[in-house]
Amino acid sequence: MLPRPAIGIEAIAAAFPNQYIDLGTLAEANNVDPGKYYVGLGVNRMAVPAPHEDSVTLAAGAAFQLIHNNNVDINDIGTLIVGTETSVDAAKPIAVYLHGLLGLSPSCRTFDTKHACYGGTAALKLVADWVAARSGSGKKALVVTTDIARYEVESPGEPTQGAGAVAMLVAENPSLLTFDDFPEAVYTQNVMDFWRPHYLNTAVVLGHTSIECYLEALEQTYSQYQELSGLKWDDYRHLLFHVPFPKMAYKGFKLLYDLEAKHRNGNPFPSFEEAFAHSAEPALWANRQVGNIYSGSLYLALASLLERRGPEVAGTRIGLFSYGSGSCAEFFSGRIGPDASAWAGKIGVGEALNNRRELNYEQYLQFREEADLLNQEDSYLNGSGFKPADDRALSFHGIRHHERVYKPGGLVKHLEASHPATKEEERPGLDKRFDDLRP
Ligand code: HMG
Repeated sequence: MLPRPAIGIEAIAAAFPNQYIDLGTLAEANNVDPGKYYVGLGVNRMAVPAPHEDSVTLAAGAAFQLIHNNNVDINDIGTLIVGTETSVDAAKPIAVYLHGLLGLSPSCRTFDTKHACYGGTAALKLVADWVAARSGSGKKALVVTTDIARYEVESPGEPTQGAGAVAMLVAENPSLLTFDDFPEAVYTQNVMDFWRPHYLNTAVVLGHTSIECYLEALEQTYSQYQELSGLKWDDYRHLLFHVPFPKMAYKGFKLLYDLEAKHRNGNPFPSFEEAFAHSAEPALWANRQVGNIYSGSLYLALASLLERRGPEVAGTRIGLFSYGSGSCAEFFSGRIGPDASAWAGKIGVGEALNNRRELNYEQYLQFREEADLLNQEDSYLNGSGFKPADDRALSFHGIRHHERVYKPGGLVKHLEASHPATKEEERPGLDKRFDDLRP
């Protein structure tokens, strides 16, 4: 058998709503000590989607940036999978909206994957095998995670909301992260810790049960992976976690640290706080500003690490833990490319987060209400008082005769003009691509 080629992530990009609410504002409205949100959960700000944003428009923002910022030839993409748990339709996948928008080849396969926050990892793992098997004759795969985390107002889950998308290009000999080729460490269990019935647009969650399920899955997959791979604690320069809220990553790291301390049986070891600051904290700064983005939370941590620590992490190994309620989890690892310094400050996460505007509590509630109205039948015909921001890739304009109406924003035109991903004559023009999206 031929050795498996090196497979992993070649490029990464992220997109977020343009506005946020500070957790202090939310704490005041909910009559809660702000320390509970800032320190107890570890969240400072939470991304709030505008009424004209949904999982499709966020995914479009991340995918467009990935393709244009990295001059990806769209003819090289043979599979596009979207990992999401907040899809906009029970049958039509978000992936096919993106396919039309990006002008991908008709021979490119598209579909969505779902298993709560594990959906993005499921997609990554599938395409890694697809690329390795060369089923697409050497083509690359695009994976986009996109979600809007939404709980009831004034519920315990409310301070753990967020919204955003992360796009990743998976290819042979990747420059960013090469997955280690060890047997898989997966843990699946049918539990009711978090779910969202079709008739609700907010999640139902048994918060404390969900934390226990997360930690159990972490212990199972980490131990299994250590055994299967032969890797040791010291082999990982950084440990990255699914981040529903940053304190959860802290709890996860504590569990692994305690397991390791037991294993060392009193042998010298850095203190817990030192180890956490060195290994896990550097990947959490963006998650503290965005909140939970469900399927993309782990990959936002990866983008954060590369953007802030690019030069230091080049060539090092990281461990990644992905958890999706319900539940399915996986621990895996990979090596960051030797040129990681090229990613420092270039992914655009910091810039996007610094350019957001702050909402007050009333505006936050108003955005939620407007989004609910816009997601009703014939909202497109009834009109909305909200004007979409013009710096987005795509905006959702409401529903007409059960079809969602999307229109391109200024970002698409700007990126297409500055870095054409493929010669225009080789794919349909922007107007034609949008005709396909218009009912
Ligand atoms: P809660 O029950 O209101 O909060 O909701 P709490 O009483 O447990 O307090 C939270 C922390 O704040 C505690 O710290 C308090 O001590 C501390 P801990 O004991 O955990 O270390 N605290 C303070 N700290 C400083 N100053 C103060 C103060 N007061 C209290 N004044 C809960 C918390 C997480 C349960 C809630 O927000 C929730 O239900 N969130 C949603 C569920 C969730 O995120 N679960 C995580 C694991 S499951 C998962 O990750 C999957 C998921 O992403 C979905 C998917 O897969 O699709 C959710």
